[in-house]
Amino acid sequence: MSDTSRERATEENRLLELAAARLPGGVLGSARFPDELAFVVKRGRGSKIWDVSEREYIDYLLGSGPMILGHAHPAVVAAVRDQLESGTTYFMVNEPIIMLADELCRAVPCAEQVRFTSTGTEATFFALRAARAWRKREKIMKFEGGYHGSHDYALMSSSPRWPKAFPAATADSAGIPHVLEGEVLVAPYNDLATVEALLAVHADALAAVIVEPFQRLLAPQPGFLAGLRALTTRYEIPLIFDEVVTGFRFAYGGAQEYYGVVPDLAALGKIIGGGFPLAAVCGREDIMKAFDPRLDGTPDFVAQVGTLNGNPIAAVAGLATLAELRKPGAYTRLHRTGRALRDGLAELATRSGLPAQVIGETAVFDLVFSDRPLTDYRGMLTADRAMLTIFNTACLARGIVKGREKLYVSLAHSDEDVARTLEVFEAALAACRKSRG
Ligand SMILES: Cc1ncc(COP(=O)(O)O)c(C=O)c1O
Repeated sequence: MSDTSRERATEENRLLELAAARLPGGVLGSARFPDELAFVVKRGRGSKIWDVSEREYIDYLLGSGPMILGHAHPAVVAAVRDQLESGTTYFMVNEPIIMLADELCRAVPCAEQVRFTSTGTEATFFALRAARAWRKREKIMKFEGGYHGSHDYALMSSSPRWPKAFPAATADSAGIPHVLEGEVLVAPYNDLATVEALLAVHADALAAVIVEPFQRLLAPQPGFLAGLRALTTRYEIPLIFDEVVTGFRFAYGGAQEYYGVVPDLAALGKIIGGGFPLAAVCGREDIMKAFDPRLDGTPDFVAQVGTLNGNPIAAVAGLATLAELRKPGAYTRLHRTGRALRDGLAELATRSGLPAQVIGETAVFDLVFSDRPLTDYRGMLTADRAMLTIFNTACLARGIVKGREKLYVSLAHSDEDVARTLEVFEAALAACRKSRG
C-alpha cells in the first residue's frame, strides 16, 4: 500500500537542499516534481520505489522505461553480480556484448548488424550519420513532436511552442547553431499526403527520414508507416525507426514487429541495457558496414567510438532482461496489465465528465485533457497541460509516480498495484474536477 502521507524526514530534506545547490534545478534532466512533493529515491524493488523517508510509491516511470521487469529483478541482479567479478569494462569485444548483438539481430526484423552506444541520443545521432554516409546527402526529415534524444538534430521541432509552416524546423534548445535548422525538414506525423508532397520537392537532398513509429503517445494511423516505407523505398532514402521506447516493449521485435513495417535502420535503447547505459544502432549490413574501421581513410568511413560502448555489465543485464521477455506469456501479461490500467483510466476519465481521454498503446499510454481526436503534435498542443499537472501532482501525493506525459507498465506490476492505482486515478480526477470549481 502506497504511503506518502508521512512527513519528509530531516535527512531527505537535507539531501534535497544539497541537490538544489549542486545540480541545476536540483534535478538530472528536464522533469521536476513540485517542491513540496520532491523526494530522493533510496531503493527500488519490483513495481515499487521507496524514498529516503521510507515512503512507498508504485512506479510507472520505471527509470524512464528500461525497467520492464521492475526494479532489482533477481535474474538481472544475479547476471550483473557474476559479471562484476570478471571486470566491468574492457573497450574490446567480449562474450556478453557479442551474444547481445546476436540476440538483437535475431529479434529485430531490420537488424543485420549492430553498433553499440551508451545512450539513445547517441544511437539516433549515429544512425543519422550512417545514413548520410550511405546516401551521400546531408539533410534529414523528422516529424514534428518526435523526440530522438537531445542532440542538435534531434531537438529540432520536437516540442515547438509556436510551430512554423512545414517543413521549417525550430531548435528547441538554446545553444543549437541556427544553421542546423536548415539541415532538418519537419513533417506532420500521421499525414502521409504532406510527407509525399514534401518528398516530391526535397527527396534528392535527403539522407534519411527518422520517425518514432509510435510518436510519444500517438499511435500511427492505419497505413501511415507502410506509406512512409513505400515512399522512402521509392526515393531510396533510408528509413530510420527510433525504437528507443518501443524496442522489446511493444513486442519482442519492437514496433517493427507490432506494426509490421520494417525500416532500414533502427535505434534501440532503454530495455536492451537492462537498467544500465546501453543503446544501439542496428540495420541493413550495407549501411552498417560504414562503421567498419578498416574503411578509415576512405570517404565512406563513419567514425563512432565511445569509452563505455559494449560494456559487459550492461550487456549481461540486457541479456538477462531479454531472456525474461522471451519466456512464454511475458508479452501477453505485460499487455494485459497495461490494458487493465489503460482501460480503467479511460473509463474513469469518461465518468469524470472532464474533457479527457486516454491515448497510446497498452505498453505506453497516458491521459490527455482534450476531447478532440488526436493524431499529431498540433492536436496535442491543444490539450490542457495545466490540468495534466494537477492530475500528476494528485497522483504523486498519493504514491503514484508516472512520467509527465507517459505511463510505462512492467511485468512486476500486480493486479493489486493496478487496483490501487485506479483508486488513486479516481481521486486525482476528482482533484481535477475540483480545480475547475
Ligand atoms: C524515442 C526516444 N528516442 C531517443 C531517446 C534518447 O535516449 P537517451 O535518453 O538514452 O539518450 C529517448 C529517451 O527517452 C526516446 O524516448
